Amino acid sequence: MIQAQNVGFAYETDEGLRRVLHEVTLSIQSGEMIAVLGQNGCGKSTFARLCNALLPMQEGKLTVAGFDTSDKKMTFELRRVCGMVFQNPDNQFVSSVVQEEVAFGPENYEVPRQDIGAIVKAALHQVALDGFEHRAPYTLSGGQKQRLAIAGVLALSPKVIIFDEATAMLDPMCRREVLAMMKKLQAQGHTIVMITHYVEEAVLADRVALMQDGKILAFGTAREILCDKEKMDAAKLLMPHAARVYYDLLAEGITLPMCPLTEEELLEAICRFN
Ligand SMILES: Nc1ncnc2c1ncn2[C@@H]1O[C@H](COP(=O)(O)OP(=O)(O)OP(=O)(O)O)[C@@H](O)[C@H]1O
Ligand SMILES: [Mg+2]
Repeated sequence: MIQAQNVGFAYETDEGLRRVLHEVTLSIQSGEMIAVLGQNGCGKSTFARLCNALLPMQEGKLTVAGFDTSDKKMTFELRRVCGMVFQNPDNQFVSSVVQEEVAFGPENYEVPRQDIGAIVKAALHQVALDGFEHRAPYTLSGGQKQRLAIAGVLALSPKVIIFDEATAMLDPMCRREVLAMMKKLQAQGHTIVMITHYVEEAVLADRVALMQDGKILAFGTAREILCDKEKMDAAKLLMPHAARVYYDLLAEGITLPMCPLTEEELLEAICRFN
């Protein structure tokens, strides 16, 4: 669904060109949930923005849902199949009424007017915002705003949805809500790219692309990556708490049957230990 081959990118700055992506190569399958995990400034958002042509391609090849992101004629269509949800939903809203906000995308893509009402209703239902049609977006809570942003993206039936630190501004409960929404959308067949620097969120992904300094350090299952002490150290990230306990116990001579990713798995591993 997303194929990146030696993608490179540099920003022009007053001090000259600043290279922030180096030979990024990745292959994301349809229906996967991928976490792009890395420290602040490692290039995650730059990669995300290249995926739906918010930034122009400079080096390498990047295709998303069959669209070559360097093909400017297809940018409009590309953005329909590859939706993005950002950290701050307030920056994305264009309307003062919830239902108009969700209708904005389909209207822009000239969806027949008589179909739009049903699309808006379905999208709001998907994110559990039924009954909010006439509210003003600014009156919603942080979590509701983020769900509205997701509804706006869903109204275009995208194949890929990229969440760029979409939970960063939310309290723990709303964060869980949005993460659960990502899982639900994946179950419905969307390909999900979750960009995060929270290791505990990356645990939810099928595979994790670990980034550092504009490079992909490793790409593998969540367990392969997040339980790999060396790689996580290299990316200057802490492993999930459960995995850290595993390594602490290992240092004490206690080897649990497996390296756990979650507290539940840790409990299970401790119970199975004898
Ligand atoms: N418009 C810009 N001009 C110049 N440099 C930029 C620009 N945007 C980002 N950068 C720099 O490029 C590097 C990568 O930025 P990017 O936003 O892709 O990282 P990120 O991994 O998303 O970080 P964060 O976790 O803070 O969101 C950073 O060092 C950043 O300062
Ligand atoms: Mg970012």
